[in-house]
Amino acid sequence: QDIILIGCPVDSGKRSRGCLMGPDAYRTAGLADALADLGHRVTDRGNLTPAPVTAPADALPHLHALAETIGWTQTLSAAAQAAMGQGLPIFMGGDHSLSLGSVAGVAAHAHTQGRPQFVLWLDAHSDYHTPHSSTSGHLHGTPLAYVTGRAGFDGFPPLTAPIPQENICIIGLRSVDPAERSALQDSAIHRHDMREIDETGIARPLGVFLDKVAAAGGALHVSLDVDFIDPAAAPGVVTTVPGGATVREAHLVMEMLHDSALMTSLDLVELNPFLDDRGRTAQLMVDLAASALGRRVFDRPTRAYA
Ligand code: ARG
Ligand code: MN
Ligand code: MN
Ligand code: MN
Repeated sequence: QDIILIGCPVDSGKRSRGCLMGPDAYRTAGLADALADLGHRVTDRGNLTPAPVTAPADALPHLHALAETIGWTQTLSAAAQAAMGQGLPIFMGGDHSLSLGSVAGVAAHAHTQGRPQFVLWLDAHSDYHTPHSSTSGHLHGTPLAYVTGRAGFDGFPPLTAPIPQENICIIGLRSVDPAERSALQDSAIHRHDMREIDETGIARPLGVFLDKVAAAGGALHVSLDVDFIDPAAAPGVVTTVPGGATVREAHLVMEMLHDSALMTSLDLVELNPFLDDRGRTAQLMVDLAASALGRRVFDRPTRAYA
């Protein structure tokens, strides 16, 4: 498979700094070689830079670094759309605001192919705020609202292909703000919190969603937020929430994604190398990406989980 590494040093989605070092941490941890060792053709396109943009004059004053995030969204959306014709892009973040652009771009591409776009969001958070409902003003908490076409994203590029709510599945939830919670409960987004994972295991909700993607012949974008994983195993992130996925649960998700052969694009987001512990979070993210792209101990028959 052709894999395209795209460096996205996006650091504008929240006030704390350091995610801009993420792409180089993935390079240092050996992402390209890990994927090449699995037989893939890997190209590292280097890092993108945001389009120069001025914020709208009537911008909401509580939003942090709005113009920069709009610039990144323009750049990333175009880059994602172009890369989809050439291979499987991996967006090396960068904070989660990069997904406003990566997801908008891959969905625009799928639209031109007449193919439905699906999104798997692996995260402690739902990132379903609009700029109006966000109390922090941190735009990394908004990408799922943007890509589903919720109103309030003034100044952002208009969406060519909003993603239907029922094509989105969030797994790992354990920190949802009140405004997000009521919007999610009114939506058709598939949402699976840690309690459900404790009760049923992680394979079941994921398997049900993958069956749905396969039946629709869809493209599948996977957005992996470092804070999906328990902070004991993945400390290199600012928004740690206790009680996250174990290393094995995270690998199982990735292994099932590989076996499904459905994943068409991948975000690796929220790694903050400044907060990491001797590179172990960067290394874990590289190992998870490798599992999603075919690293395994033994082959096994494909199973249905529904
Ligand atoms: N819901 C909180 C906020 O809007 C946290 C968002 C965390 N998002 C993330 N991508 N880490 O500020
Ligand atoms: Mn997130
Ligand atoms: Mn998160
Ligand atoms: Mn579901």
